[in-house]
Amino acid sequence: MEKIIVLDFGGQYNQLIARRVREAGVYAEVLPYTAVPERLTSGGELMGVILTGGPDSVYAEGAKQLPGYLLELGVPILGICYGMQALACHLGGAVAPAKAGEFGHTPIHYAAHPLFADMTGDHVWMNHVDAVQQLPEGFSTIAGTDLCPIAAMADDGRRLYAVQFHPEVHHTPEGPQLFKNFVFNICGCKGGWAAENLADSLIAQIRTQAGDSRVISALSGGVDSSVASVLVHKAIGDRLKCIFVDHGMLRHNEAREVLTFYRDELGMDVHFVDASERFLSKLKGVTDPEQKRKIIGTEFIRVFEEEAKKLGGADYLVQGTIYPDVIESGAGSAAVIKSHHNVGGLPKNVDFKGLIEPLRTLFKDEVRALGESIGIPHHLVWRQPFPGPGLAVRIIGEITPEKLEIVRHSDYIFRTEVAQAGLESAIWQYFTVYTGVRSVGVMGDDRTYDSVVALRAVTSTDAMTVEFSELPYPLLRKISSRIINEVPGCNRVVYDITSKPPGTIEWE
Ligand code: XMP
Repeated sequence: MEKIIVLDFGGQYNQLIARRVREAGVYAEVLPYTAVPERLTSGGELMGVILTGGPDSVYAEGAKQLPGYLLELGVPILGICYGMQALACHLGGAVAPAKAGEFGHTPIHYAAHPLFADMTGDHVWMNHVDAVQQLPEGFSTIAGTDLCPIAAMADDGRRLYAVQFHPEVHHTPEGPQLFKNFVFNICGCKGGWAAENLADSLIAQIRTQAGDSRVISALSGGVDSSVASVLVHKAIGDRLKCIFVDHGMLRHNEAREVLTFYRDELGMDVHFVDASERFLSKLKGVTDPEQKRKIIGTEFIRVFEEEAKKLGGADYLVQGTIYPDVIESGAGSAAVIKSHHNVGGLPKNVDFKGLIEPLRTLFKDEVRALGESIGIPHHLVWRQPFPGPGLAVRIIGEITPEKLEIVRHSDYIFRTEVAQAGLESAIWQYFTVYTGVRSVGVMGDDRTYDSVVALRAVTSTDAMTVEFSELPYPLLRKISSRIINEVPGCNRVVYDITSKPPGTIEWE
């Protein structure tokens, strides 16, 4: 299998680089810049290496250096931002702060070069202060902006290329084409890879990690934990035991539906634990969103540790963590947006030898394609995402049984109406939120002073960026009147029209 390796120098969205290459139809994987050369060359045919951006300045003390073996690999190399500067420095060029930093959309001019084939050079996304000021020997300049005359450079003889801008982010509209040009025109890849092909290599990695150990898996009913567990089951068979915990913040009928899926449709042996009282008592009086998430993350682990003991012990815990969970929890270099219960919400001491997280580098749409390829039924793979902390992150303020009932009931009405309108598959995620706001209303001839429920519905491909869904007004009207008529304690319904960024999908 052809592969491209992305060497990680600490940039914010390094997995996006791998994703763009995979979207072009070539397998790509991110490795730390300190990886030994065998990690690049084993398990596939290395076709090229991409060096990511990073927060360092190349001349700062302790700045990350290119590995000494890099140029001896004999494959094309593409440096991006810090990757460009590190490459220039390594080869005798000069890097220094530019006259002014460039941040955001920047017009650019490209020279005629295979790296820019079929690109018009409209604008790119820049994010830098330092820049290459003097080319290393053998290189020529192949792009420039007003403030950055060497915005890209190439040494075609040695097949070394670099760009100062970020082709991986969607703010560089022609970025996907640049990755195609690199992998096909320059690295000579044939392509044809798709997320569906990942199963075999993931199963092999799981076998290596798990060895002869016993493993338990944390099922949530969502696509991620289902795909992760089915992969582990394929890798180690009955040494895997699956556990599904009801933490008391599930949707209407969820526990029953999920157990039916797993047992009847996937033929998996699932151990069910009703831990609702335990979770709800730990959350009593807690209002801070991050604290809620951390309590839930910790409690999940404690329940799994206890249940694992009852089932005869386990060395590893399988989680369906995917890349957006990792990046938003601030793992690596990125800022903490929210501690996803299975990453940033985990306690420090965990009574397992380790976690098995086969999907940690993938995006949701890739997980779905993989899920279908390993035989998980379409309707389970395309279930709308539901967060591990459940309705807890949809209730502003303290969680109480009354508020849970309002969200659960209104969410059920919302879901029923969306299904009836035939819009289930057109919307990425849709749910209701207990806003914690009360407002005055009039019902019959009486004044009411009750809760405001918000409807949230978004479209997306990977949950990293979303737009609010433009639901038809008649549908919104019907949902609003059903919720107000049928959900006690709710007298007003509002529609959330915030995109991500600046919002997030969940309210907490
Ligand atoms: P946000 O709210 O960060 O959500 O825009 C992005 C996606 O992640 C889901 N989400 C979570 N999933 N554990 C999960 O398993 C969590 O702690 C968590 N927080 C958010 C959210 O529902 C959306 O699909």
